[in-house]
Amino acid sequence: MDIDKISKNLTTPYYLYSENLIKENINSYMKHASENTLFCYSVKANSNLSILKLIASMGMGFDVVSRGELFRVMTIGADPKKIVYSGVGKGKDEIKYALECGILCFNVESEGELHAINEQASAINCTANVSIRVNPDVTVETHPYISTGMKENKFGIPYKNALDIYLKASKLQSLKIIGIDFHIGSQITSIGPYLDSLKSIKALIHELKKENIELSHIDVGGGLGIKYKDENIINKDVFISTIIDELNDLNITILFEPGRSVVGDCGILVSQVQYIKETDDKNFLILDASMSELIRPPLYDAYHNITPVYKKESMYKNYDIVGPVCESADFLGKNRPMNVDVSDLVVVEDVGAYGFVLSSNYNTRPKPAEYIISNGNINIIRSADTLDQILANELL
Ligand SMILES: Cc1ncc(COP(=O)(O)O)c(C=O)c1O
Repeated sequence: MDIDKISKNLTTPYYLYSENLIKENINSYMKHASENTLFCYSVKANSNLSILKLIASMGMGFDVVSRGELFRVMTIGADPKKIVYSGVGKGKDEIKYALECGILCFNVESEGELHAINEQASAINCTANVSIRVNPDVTVETHPYISTGMKENKFGIPYKNALDIYLKASKLQSLKIIGIDFHIGSQITSIGPYLDSLKSIKALIHELKKENIELSHIDVGGGLGIKYKDENIINKDVFISTIIDELNDLNITILFEPGRSVVGDCGILVSQVQYIKETDDKNFLILDASMSELIRPPLYDAYHNITPVYKKESMYKNYDIVGPVCESADFLGKNRPMNVDVSDLVVVEDVGAYGFVLSSNYNTRPKPAEYIISNGNINIIRSADTLDQILANELL
């Protein structure tokens, strides 16, 4: 698409997604759909209602982690029987709301939560389906902030305690144990840690059988990495076929919770160069986009390609690409060879996941608009904040 032309009518910075690319990614999962698989898109990656609606229309269910995310998917008319609820700190109101919605199951992360769900279910006279999130203690090579399956992470029940928790759960009247799950991290680029996890999880399922606890599903979480720079990523087909083969002998439904790999490479952030500041020590490109719109670079040391929209013959220089926010952590890229001029447009690539959802109003900056390209048309799917909206909940 001609970003220059599109931008003539739009205010930078803005997010732009491609419907075709999202569909392509969904298809590469959904072609493996059967009565023994369920794909639950992880809403946290990108929770825009239009994108959720598109994802639901192609048959995926959802993985939510808050009342708010559940409210979003209920708003777009998602099938509650395809919704799983993850997260370490589900509040009582959140549990009650999820029970009222009739979700498929809770991924339970502590003994306390097991009791909280049991109490809420008993109070409204229903049975809650639960799956225990087990922490398989595997190491994944990713940023420490997005590794979740190691002993020191807050997520899941330690492997060695899992059997005991299942036995305790089996005694609670208002719970029905239906599954087991793990999620070992995000932006994972090798299949080894999944296979290691499956090995221990299968051993546990075997132990559970001996205790007459039969599971109907195993949820392998999300985590598949995408190519931001030069990573070797796991092919989705290979990933799914390998997991299905690995679990073939169990005759069990397999759930997947992909997030980043559904939307990550389908979005860009378009921004304009405001100023160029060159000093003896460093050169800076100062954009109108900042860490308020995209916090992944300072938060996770994440790399995003930043590409000029116009091709120029002028010489390249190295720049730190920064925003207007008053923090030294406000950068989108460091030491990038660029040849741009003031008021040129640049595109920050692969921001479809954990981009807009992590944006903030820091420095009282309005969150940017989001657009989607569908069949060659640009449609707005969220307007930029107005300053009045930002101030609306404050009292004088
Ligand atoms: C429980 C759970 N499932 C799925 C995901 C999605 O992970 P990803 O976006 O890496 O596929 C996450 C993300 O952290 C998660 O916490």
